[in-house]
Amino acid sequence: MEIFKEIEPLRAYLKQFRQLKSSIGLVPTMGALHAGHLALIEASRKENTLTVCSIYVNPAQFNNLQDLEKYPQTLERDTALLKASGCDVLFCPSHHEMYKNQDHIRFDFGALDKILEGEYRPGHFSGVALVVSKLFNIVLPNKAYFGQKDFQQFLLVKKLVEDLNFDLELKRVPIVREADGLAMSSRNMRLSTQQRKDAPVFYQALQHAKKMLLSGKDLKAVQNEIQLMCERKPGVRLEYFALADKENLKLAESVTGQSILLIAGYVGEIRLIDNLVVGDEN
Ligand code: PAJ
Repeated sequence: MEIFKEIEPLRAYLKQFRQLKSSIGLVPTMGALHAGHLALIEASRKENTLTVCSIYVNPAQFNNLQDLEKYPQTLERDTALLKASGCDVLFCPSHHEMYKNQDHIRFDFGALDKILEGEYRPGHFSGVALVVSKLFNIVLPNKAYFGQKDFQQFLLVKKLVEDLNFDLELKRVPIVREADGLAMSSRNMRLSTQQRKDAPVFYQALQHAKKMLLSGKDLKAVQNEIQLMCERKPGVRLEYFALADKENLKLAESVTGQSILLIAGYVGEIRLIDNLVVGDEN
């Protein structure tokens, strides 16, 4: 695996592959890799000649300084995992390499970045859009891989690609879960033993809500039940639980073929998110 910390040598390296008409797949990450990330690498390896993984903890997308400071950094372990998974190129730039200017441009996605994650993490999606745009321009991938786990992020990147005409195909990879249903996340590493036992509550809530909604129960009643389910666990705090349309995330009152349930909350001071399709998959 080739490792690059700087943009220009990476560009020069990738240029030869592009001239050979190789297909380049990009998997953007913030490191602290787990099986969820590796599923993205695997998907890219199946569909491309060359897979590039980026590891960069992007300060522009953290609205909470403490979350940024505590974000797990495990580059040595990540490098070994990527090598073992058959990734071809790792791009792990410094802050100076990625951000020459402190005062950078901001993105506005209209309704899409104001609701759900956007409401609780102001500025977050602008920072995501900025770093993803930079990575697309640096790597010029043919395909880019994102996880269903961050569903709103996926829709936002989709809009970014459409509105800015990035010449690439976007791929969405299903959520990889632990045996007890907890969605894999780099933040899970920070959970204490008790918190780790409590953390699957969000997935259990999604499953329970899906069942209730499909049996015809009213959304308000379901929301109350989910709130209670979380309150019963000390240290767990629900931030939002929503039923939405999976094309545009507009909040819905009842289930349709397009429905998705989204949840976010805290276990102790660790913020977790998850989602579950209620209508038709895809
Ligand atoms: P990060 O949280 O490291 O996630 C990198 C990619 O892995 C994202 O596309 C995310 O949706 C996917 N992913 C994370 N956990 C997953 C799981 N359990 N199953 C499937 N896919 C999963 O998301 C980011 O980083 C950043 O915002 C980034 C896009 C890199 C921009 O900085």
